[in-house]
Amino acid sequence: MSDQTATATPLLQVDRLSIRFPVGRSGFWGKQVNYVSAIDDVSFSISPGETLGLVGESGSGKTTLGRAVLRRLTPAAGSITFKGNDITATTGEELRQLRRHMQLVFQDPYASLNPRKTVLQLVAEPLVVHGLAKNTEDARATVTDLLDRCGLPVDTIDRYAHAFSGGQRQRIGIARALSLRPDFIVADEPVSALDVSVRAQVVNLLQDLQAELGLTYLFIAHDLSVVRHISHRIAILYSGKLVEIAPTHSLYESPLHPYTEALLSSVPIPDPPVQRARRRIVLQGEIPNPVNPPDGCRFQTRCPLVEARCRVETPPLEEKLPDHWAACFVR
Ligand SMILES: Nc1ncnc2c1ncn2[C@@H]1O[C@H](COP(=O)(O)OP(=O)(O)O)[C@@H](O)[C@H]1O
Ligand SMILES: [Mg+2]
Repeated sequence: MSDQTATATPLLQVDRLSIRFPVGRSGFWGKQVNYVSAIDDVSFSISPGETLGLVGESGSGKTTLGRAVLRRLTPAAGSITFKGNDITATTGEELRQLRRHMQLVFQDPYASLNPRKTVLQLVAEPLVVHGLAKNTEDARATVTDLLDRCGLPVDTIDRYAHAFSGGQRQRIGIARALSLRPDFIVADEPVSALDVSVRAQVVNLLQDLQAELGLTYLFIAHDLSVVRHISHRIAILYSGKLVEIAPTHSLYESPLHPYTEALLSSVPIPDPPVQRARRRIVLQGEIPNPVNPPDGCRFQTRCPLVEARCRVETPPLEEKLPDHWAACFVR
């Protein structure tokens, strides 16, 4: 498979990446180790300043892929290149330095912030760990600026994280992720745990910060409703396989993979006649067990268009429209 962004040198390039988790043993003497094939032969790239949306059902491998590109997991196969450097096997001090440039915004702002620390301590922690704050005044000045950028009042700084609402907590989580001035952020379902009423505000904040600071995002979501406005391109993951990747407008206007069509059919459209005209595709069955994925296309067990070939061969990701790639024999 070739590079999908030929125009600029990618900030991140993922090539034929596979991630496996050991899950117990089988066989007569328990000698055979079973693996969850959580990510299988996935390739994509992200350009500087771009947002790639990553969408798939729960269990499709989104968090695993996000953690892998940040090198919080070691790949079973394939490579990860960041700013032109192969980081697939980076370890030790080099990995620690690399972490300054790539940060994670967590899904659950209730679980990811230690309630016994003040906002100052939470946001300054990465600076202290990396030895980047000269003294407490210096840390306080940096944190004050970060809180302001993230839309939090200055008096937040000496309070404890538990005193805040979900939306405010996520702003604190974002300020913390930005403290080391990273270039690249993986936002793992950053608004899924928030009230619907504050989701758009947090997405808008991420968009504003991207414009101000020139950030590059991998923005993860479990459905297509949240990612549309923030993503330049969108990648669809199904059971550890990339099934479609395309510029946002092309994906919404001409979805090619039957799984993408099903996901799109459940996104509400603000225009009632269009909504009425559109057929809701309800998928039957469950995501296949990634410990024993079926031969051929992993979507075959639920696909309304399945053909004999799909049950034996794995469809390759192919460019079917300009910059619009899909892995499907039928489309
Ligand atoms: N540490 C782990 N050990 C074993 N299996 C795991 C581990 N982490 C994730 N998995 C499995 O990998 C698959 C993908 O999980 P995950 O990346 O969390 O999906 P998502 O974020 O899309 O919900 C699931 O089948 C999950 O059970
Ligand atoms: Mg997840």
